[in-house]
Amino acid sequence: MATLQVDPIPRALYSLGLLIRELEIPLTNPIQTIKDLTQSALGNINAAASLADLEKVRVAVLGRKGELAGISKTFGAMAPEDRAKAGQLLNEAKATLEKSFEDRKASLEGSESDQRFKAEWIDLTVPPQGIAPGHIHPVTQVQDEIEQLFISMGFRVLDGPEVETDYYNFDALNIPSDHPARDMQDTFWMTDGHLLRTHTSPVQVRALQKYGAPMRMIAPGRVFRNEEVDASHEHTFYQVEGMMVDRDVSVSHLIYFMQTLLSSVFGRKVTVRLRPGYFPFVEPGFELDIQCLICGGNGCAVCKQSGWVELLPCGLVHPNVIANCGLDPQEWNGFAFGLGLTRLAMMRYAIDDIRLLQSGDLRFLNQF
Ligand code: PHE
Repeated sequence: MATLQVDPIPRALYSLGLLIRELEIPLTNPIQTIKDLTQSALGNINAAASLADLEKVRVAVLGRKGELAGISKTFGAMAPEDRAKAGQLLNEAKATLEKSFEDRKASLEGSESDQRFKAEWIDLTVPPQGIAPGHIHPVTQVQDEIEQLFISMGFRVLDGPEVETDYYNFDALNIPSDHPARDMQDTFWMTDGHLLRTHTSPVQVRALQKYGAPMRMIAPGRVFRNEEVDASHEHTFYQVEGMMVDRDVSVSHLIYFMQTLLSSVFGRKVTVRLRPGYFPFVEPGFELDIQCLICGGNGCAVCKQSGWVELLPCGLVHPNVIANCGLDPQEWNGFAFGLGLTRLAMMRYAIDDIRLLQSGDLRFLNQF
């Protein structure tokens, strides 16, 4: 008779089933896991330094796919009594963690708004630090006044380049390259043949070529000379060029405008003298000197002990210059002057050293 053969091994395995399950439990014991996880999650919650960090911890532990949810999936393998116990423990752990999460959240919210409050806090009762306004440089002050004066007399204020060509700085002003007058001014030459303008006179030519005659203009600006620097000489200083071209302009026009200029700038009568002076672009040419206002004519470093300061070289525009600008010298003539603006400012404010003007020294500038 055939006997039902029962394989002993599966049977043994079957009877061992419970044991196997029990053996599994220590490996992934949910109760212990829940306890461990709760501990480490509490640590992480308290360690979270920002609301954003805290939210990451919350999602990792309490989220739908978080660690606690993962543990509950292992419950299926447990004996029913254990499962109930583990389920209860899990619920308690959840409640504990949620509570601690809410507490931490509240305290982080508090301190983040504290920090913002501290960062944004200002004390409206503190007295202001005092605003230190800038100062208008003495040269600029005198320049502004001169511009206003000449504008009121129908002159236009023009500007010209500081880097000039040989033509505008010399040739067009009746100073050809073999002319000894080129040596009168020590020139800074650029390697490409340009130069730093040695005077504002090139603007005379630019103005006449561009706008023609009649013309009344001034051109304040910076000029450069390759000179030894001392109390009265700088390599960089300021001039105001002036020119009036019209029909029948004479020396008396020139004198009238120069007197008006000086009495306006000094606000009082100043002693002046007119000497013949040579400049290739004027004929006749003059040097207008004023008595030194620093020493009252007694002699000092600024006036080189002479009592007089050269302030206003001037003259009638040379016919060659008129012609170089494309105008007919038979019809048009004029006067021109080249005011030493830097020197004028020094006289006006009794500044005894030209080097102070460009020193950038606030102790000096704050006085103006
Ligand atoms: N350009 C001359 C200079 O700098 C000054 C000047 C201007 C003289 C106009 C006469 C007429 O030295």
